[in-house]
Amino acid sequence: MPFVGWIALAALVWVGHGVVLTWSHNFFYGRVNSRRIADFFQLMHGVLLILPPFVWAKTSTGFVDWKWTTDWDKLAGWHGVICLLSLPVLLLVSLGRWRRKLPYGVKLERQTNLVPEGQARLKAGGAGIRNWLANLGFNETLRPELVEYSLTMDHLPAAWDGLRLMHLSDLHFHGTPEREWYQWVLAECSKLQPDLVVCTGDLVDGMKFHQWVGGTLGRLKWEEQALAVLGNHDSWFAPESLRGNLRRLGFKVLGNRWEVVQVRGEPMVVGGIESPWFEGEPRLREAPDRVFKLLLSHTPDHLAWASKHGVDLMFAGHVHGGQVCLPAFGPLVMPSRHGRSLDRGWFERGKTKLYVSKGLGGTHPLRWNCPPEVMLLTLRTGRKA
Ligand SMILES: [Fe+2]
Repeated sequence: MPFVGWIALAALVWVGHGVVLTWSHNFFYGRVNSRRIADFFQLMHGVLLILPPFVWAKTSTGFVDWKWTTDWDKLAGWHGVICLLSLPVLLLVSLGRWRRKLPYGVKLERQTNLVPEGQARLKAGGAGIRNWLANLGFNETLRPELVEYSLTMDHLPAAWDGLRLMHLSDLHFHGTPEREWYQWVLAECSKLQPDLVVCTGDLVDGMKFHQWVGGTLGRLKWEEQALAVLGNHDSWFAPESLRGNLRRLGFKVLGNRWEVVQVRGEPMVVGGIESPWFEGEPRLREAPDRVFKLLLSHTPDHLAWASKHGVDLMFAGHVHGGQVCLPAFGPLVMPSRHGRSLDRGWFERGKTKLYVSKGLGGTHPLRWNCPPEVMLLTLRTGRKA
């Protein structure tokens, strides 16, 4: 093979290496780990990602004359084969993303900047590399979007026609953006006058940021109910205290359980699922039949579970839409067992419709082609119950 052919092959192996590492990252990140272990895996995957060219440069034979003679050669060679085999899977998932359609009854109504450009109060805040990153010109971290959908469903109570649900997820209070940014965004959210607020976890990234909860989420206003579950980051920072804070603000913190609430005088089953970070699951099979079931989950990975348990509408976050998305290709890293298959937006399984939020924040304040978002969903009644 000519040298240029070997270079092309090496490039393909490197892309495949990235795919295999992303699978590995998704697998480990989806498990219950302490923060230190999670950070270690993240760093290890980053180091392994940039390793191949150094290995090829250092080997005495080079990539061109791979001999398969030593155990290391064989190990690296077989890894290369696996990397190449991962590429068709990558292609299939990409095709699936391109062909994806909105589920029946869902309509995108509007997609706008939540806060006008040039707003004086939108500062990055924090210090060091996070502040530097957030202020980069191409970075969308400080430019939240308002995404508005309508969902027409049969057999909804007539009183719910026009019911507005606001979905917030992954605020990740850690200093960048600063508290005033969240206060501003959430004050804008209140102007939208939602009936229900649903929050799908990852609020705090540090003990001292518990103090932010009251001054930020405390500014939200709603008509009927505010519901929340916690996420993996919350599990690392005194989660029970966080639940208490949220309850004092008027949120129903669902945990791994369900209950019936009244919304405009009609019953709605609202459930939460916080596993695998908090053990358990809601016993939804014991919930009343023929009552609309809403489920909040931090991770979208529970879609199949939700479908099996008769959930009508599910909200999730956790994956942040990947935060950095290449044009046409989409996100690179996605901490879900389903990888890029459940990256952002709407999904459907059986009668269950799932919305996955891109989130409002992130531990790493870097976003490209994936701005932070607030989602507002208006329910419309189709055929009468
Ligand atoms: Fe998150």
